[in-house]
Amino acid sequence: MNKTIQAYDEGDFLDWKLQKEKERNDKDDLPFWHDEINEFLSLVSTGDIVEIGPGPGIEARQILSRGKFSTYTGIEPALKLAKISKLLLRDYYCDVRVEIVNSTIEDYLADRKFNALVAVCSLVHVNFIFISEVLFKLRDMCEDGAYSWIVMNEREDSGLSKTDYQGKTFYFYDFDDFKKMLQKSGFKTLEGSKVIAKGGRNWQVFYLKAV
Ligand SMILES: C[S@@+](CC[C@H](N)C(=O)[O-])C[C@H]1O[C@@H](n2cnc3c(N)ncnc32)[C@H](O)[C@@H]1O
Repeated sequence: MNKTIQAYDEGDFLDWKLQKEKERNDKDDLPFWHDEINEFLSLVSTGDIVEIGPGPGIEARQILSRGKFSTYTGIEPALKLAKISKLLLRDYYCDVRVEIVNSTIEDYLADRKFNALVAVCSLVHVNFIFISEVLFKLRDMCEDGAYSWIVMNEREDSGLSKTDYQGKTFYFYDFDDFKKMLQKSGFKTLEGSKVIAKGGRNWQVFYLKAV
């Protein structure tokens, strides 16, 4: 297993994420990606959605609670997180056919197409050498005209770089360069793409259409 995925399986990400959710619920705060999920869902209509690296499925729950999709496929390589997301999503959304595939996106055998795609802070773990291949694969997994919401972590110094943090490897891109890579793969960046500061960090947020 690659060390980043092992770090997600053995580290405290799950506890941290659930604790953050609990604190927000206790304070009656909106979910972290509330506005972005709204913006994304205002674009999509219905059908089948795929998520790359859903972790425990917190964002997926928010997305599925809106009742737009009939199937949800999560591609989650960390076994523990895959099991949690499967339980959380299956129990909450009986009317959605939920499938969690325990695989990296690099190894995932894409044999179907989706109407919507989400990847929040997961493609940052794909090695630079595989990212173009992965973006082409993601485009190929989308029906023509499908919408995607992708979030990448942004470093202050920007540009292409790699960082090891808490056992995980992160690959960072310059915003415009990543946008060009998406375009080259067949994703058109729509209005609303931006770098946003949120929760004390910076993020690159892309709303895309498969063209
Ligand atoms: C920072 S977490 C984000 C989880 C969730 N999307 C969220 O925003 O809370 C990164 C997730 O990506 C997954 N991941 C790491 N490498 C991956 C890869 N190569 N393909 C797919 N998912 C990956 C991890 O297991 C983890 O669940």
